Amino acid sequence: MPRLANIGCLATCANPVGQDDIGLIRDAALVWRDGTVRWTGPAAALPAEYEAEPARDAGGGLVIPGLVDAHTHLAFGGWRAGEFSDRIRGRGYLEIAAAGGGIASTVRATRALDEEALLARAHEFLSGMVSLGITTVEAKSGYGLDLETELRLLRVYRRLGEMGPARVVATCLAAHVVPPEWSADRAGYVRLVTERILPAVAEDGLAEFCDVFVEDSAFSADEARQICERGCELGLRPKLHVDQLSGGGGAELAASLGAVSADHLEYVSEAGIEALAAAGVVAVTLPLATLYLNQAPPPARALIDGGVAVAVASDFNPGTAPSWHLPFAMTLACTRQRMTPAEVLKGATRYAARAVGREGELGSLEPGAAADFTIIDAPDVEHWLYHLRPNACVAAAIGGETLHGIRRKA
Ligand code: NIG
Ligand code: FE
Repeated sequence: MPRLANIGCLATCANPVGQDDIGLIRDAALVWRDGTVRWTGPAAALPAEYEAEPARDAGGGLVIPGLVDAHTHLAFGGWRAGEFSDRIRGRGYLEIAAAGGGIASTVRATRALDEEALLARAHEFLSGMVSLGITTVEAKSGYGLDLETELRLLRVYRRLGEMGPARVVATCLAAHVVPPEWSADRAGYVRLVTERILPAVAEDGLAEFCDVFVEDSAFSADEARQICERGCELGLRPKLHVDQLSGGGGAELAASLGAVSADHLEYVSEAGIEALAAAGVVAVTLPLATLYLNQAPPPARALIDGGVAVAVASDFNPGTAPSWHLPFAMTLACTRQRMTPAEVLKGATRYAARAVGREGELGSLEPGAAADFTIIDAPDVEHWLYHLRPNACVAAAIGGETLHGIRRKA
């Protein structure tokens, strides 16, 4: 039974309630067996039966549950650096999209890549994420927007999950936008999603969740309802992109559909916050997208005070968040969303795991949970997120097995 010794500060995140309760234990030890946590506590209280077990040394650092990035668009073709400059010069995100850029331009670049090429790119991104201490990544399709390419993207995620180096949870976002070839027949595209794409995804077990971008420029509340209800029938739980560019009751919609999470929420209303709290929907905030679009942040304090669990994720994608640096997003959540470092850590571990349906299994270090942990070169969580560095992660492990950056499993 291996154990991790010399932990200066352990954050177990074992408590399901309390955004800022991260279960801190100073001078701690962690014991696991067959990939599963057996015991955590102060080193001085280590049960005698574990004392003779082989110990790894955490170097006196901070140990946290492996980070969970609960919202990414991991596989796509091309980049959109030109649009980044265009937006700085004053062109709007929606203006660029209306002229054929934005998501549609990434759809063209994605359809042009075969499965191997998409896999190689996504694997490289994933390896970079793991080097930062991220051990689980939610990954959305949504740059295929036809049956064949949506399935191709989701097959990439299945293969990535099998080969590592991180755990991957897949979401079908066939309802990202209406693709150009269907612009004259929106209802026809919604039928393609509900009658062909989602059933094919469910049949092959290629995703656990379905997602819809609810926005004037994407899908209406009625269309989202049709898509999510079909997803539910097929066993795909909804997660929704809502209230990102305008407020339109997206959070209320997510709550009424029994969504596991409502993501973005820059424009969430007070009624929306109440609805999320009453329905137990996780609010996934995406500080990198807020930053790149130069928006006012979502009201994280009001969400937390209203009883909503707030997660923090990267939203990695080539348009609104071209970075997978979750620790940077976490520091931004502190400064811009006014969340304390402890609240942010809970949001990128336990509550992120809740947002991908894995609470108690991932995102916390407690008996029965996976031994996924990250060692950070910092005395505590506060110091880590305050002293932002390119990479403060010393090591990451999945199921107790130490990962070595870009290593592929055989
Ligand atoms: O989460 N909001 C919709 N989808 C992405 C952006 C996609 C893109 O611009 O390529 C997001 O921000
Ligand atoms: Fe997104």
